[in-house]
Amino acid sequence: MCGIVAYTGSRSAVPILLDGLTALEYRGYDSAGLVTSTRMYKEVGNVAALRACLDADTSLRKKGKEKKEQDTAGIAHTRWATHGEPTKVNAHPHAGRDERVWLVHNGIIENYLELKQSLEAAGHSFRSDTDSEVLAHLIESHYTKKRAEKHTLAQAVTEALAQVRGTYGIAVFDRKQPSEIVVARMGSPLLIGVGAGEYVIASDASAVIRHTRDIVYLNDGEYAIVSPSNLAIYSLSHEKKTHTIDHIDWALEDVQKQGYEHFMLKEIMEGPEVLRASARGRIKASSGDVVLGGLAEHADALRGLSRLVIVACGTAYYAGCVGKRLIEELAGIPVEVEVASEFRHRRLLYDRNTAVLAVTQSGETADTLWSIREAKKQGLLTLGVVNTVGSTIARETDAGVYNHAGPEIGVASTKAFLSQIEVLAMIAVYLGRMRGLSEREGKALVAELLQMPDLVAEILTHKDAIKEVATHYADATNMLYIGRHMNAPVALEGALKLKEISYLHAEGYPAGEMKHGPIAMIEPSFPTLAIAPRDSVYDKMVSAIEEIRARKGPVIAVVTRGDTELAGRVDAIMEVPETHELLSPLLTVVPLQLFAYYVGVARGYNVDRPRNLAKSVTVE
Ligand code: AGP
Ligand code: GLU
Repeated sequence: MCGIVAYTGSRSAVPILLDGLTALEYRGYDSAGLVTSTRMYKEVGNVAALRACLDADTSLRKKGKEKKEQDTAGIAHTRWATHGEPTKVNAHPHAGRDERVWLVHNGIIENYLELKQSLEAAGHSFRSDTDSEVLAHLIESHYTKKRAEKHTLAQAVTEALAQVRGTYGIAVFDRKQPSEIVVARMGSPLLIGVGAGEYVIASDASAVIRHTRDIVYLNDGEYAIVSPSNLAIYSLSHEKKTHTIDHIDWALEDVQKQGYEHFMLKEIMEGPEVLRASARGRIKASSGDVVLGGLAEHADALRGLSRLVIVACGTAYYAGCVGKRLIEELAGIPVEVEVASEFRHRRLLYDRNTAVLAVTQSGETADTLWSIREAKKQGLLTLGVVNTVGSTIARETDAGVYNHAGPEIGVASTKAFLSQIEVLAMIAVYLGRMRGLSEREGKALVAELLQMPDLVAEILTHKDAIKEVATHYADATNMLYIGRHMNAPVALEGALKLKEISYLHAEGYPAGEMKHGPIAMIEPSFPTLAIAPRDSVYDKMVSAIEEIRARKGPVIAVVTRGDTELAGRVDAIMEVPETHELLSPLLTVVPLQLFAYYVGVARGYNVDRPRNLAKSVTVE
């Protein structure tokens, strides 16, 4: 969730902060800002806009001479909005009421609304819509309340964090004593570059290694007090921690990919954390409920829905196809899924109890946007499952659920697809629980959803075995992907991933359709990837596999771990743990993402920027 840079030492802080933010741009963001003891700027858009703002500030140029920049400490931020649209006022840094305590924050303060209400009751008023500003006020309230008792900023920070639920990486300073910066970490990375009489703090080493390669990594649940002459690290319960200094010799690009060869692999490996982030604060395991604040205002309309139409493109469309099955099974609502570029040309014959749901990572896909506009013209309720806060579709739909999957840099959608399935599953439980889904069923489903990060992590530990299979088939010229019921859309998505990344012709098909034509293509040079976990359609999948094998077609099967019977009847397997049938796409897609990635790498292509593709298709 974007970027933090902070500096304290003897050099001018502003150039170091700006260069640091530039180094973090690859992480994706929508706005940026910085504050030192004498200057504070924030701008929507890129770091260059922020830099231009500072350059234009003539207040520092007296009589043609550049006043030597006195500020030798400061904090800076690139924001990936989660709470509050990407606007100048919502950009970081944020200050408390008397603008003495300043903060930059990466992450999500889950309980920010209740904290905000109690601060408002104490007379605080807020400038922005963000959760982060609430934390700034909370820290300040502890700081000023006890300043007479010589309360340190660090004490105020830790007291405030004791009241917080959620994730954070923060840098905080008192503008009147800027050389001392307090940083803390819970769920959002922070590290400290150790220089000669100076420290550069950042979300990752790409903002630090131009100054020093000696790094101290902060761990979750730790905070640090950093001044030019001293670095002290503590647990949140104030236990002093010894810290080791690691020397890193990575190249800058390796740092940005956190050691992975490509962003695509990094984002596949982020799957477990993305599933945690998308579910954070939304699952009530004790009652089998899902809480989706973004839909609450329309709960009555949703309870009475007679039909839901999902519109999306590409990978998001396949996520919608999984969502259809989930919502029909769990909520008993008829669901249509339409490719947005087709939906928008149709005559919409829906009654007023129909909602149209857009699934879109970027929130800017033209065909999806125009579909939503068409639905609004017909007076239909419009909803969104969107990853990019404040995007056009997020703003134009009546309500929605943000993915909180963080920016996806690779053009091919991987972690976003996983998050889309999870959010659609949560929507299915949310709707189901208001339309007859029992507490017992709800509990079983949400319990399994909470297991998903660990189950996906288990698959990822076997990525080398999947790489071996992919490399073996990398020279194929065609591939057939087949799946059934919950995994029919996953077959389509798997084929799309392979097409996008390796330019290899691949077709996804519902397995039952194979006999109606595609089986004519099968021959020894035409491999099939069959998704066959142990579920209600397993036997039919085995039959389809046998039909292919009878024609000497090679078969790679995605199987439930331990299914030795099927493993013995195919040419290669990729294993996934057992799970609830309705949630199996969250697992079966992971080997397919890795398979496509490794085939693309084996074929020597740019898997992060495949030819002819754009990350967001804003043209029709
Ligand atoms: C998927 O790997 C592609 N990048 C593409 O199909 C994408 O899913 C589609 O363009 C929809 O994008 P959106 O989710 O941003 O609307
Ligand atoms: N939740 C904070 C906001 O929306 C921080 C987002 C981030 O990590 O950049 O401003």
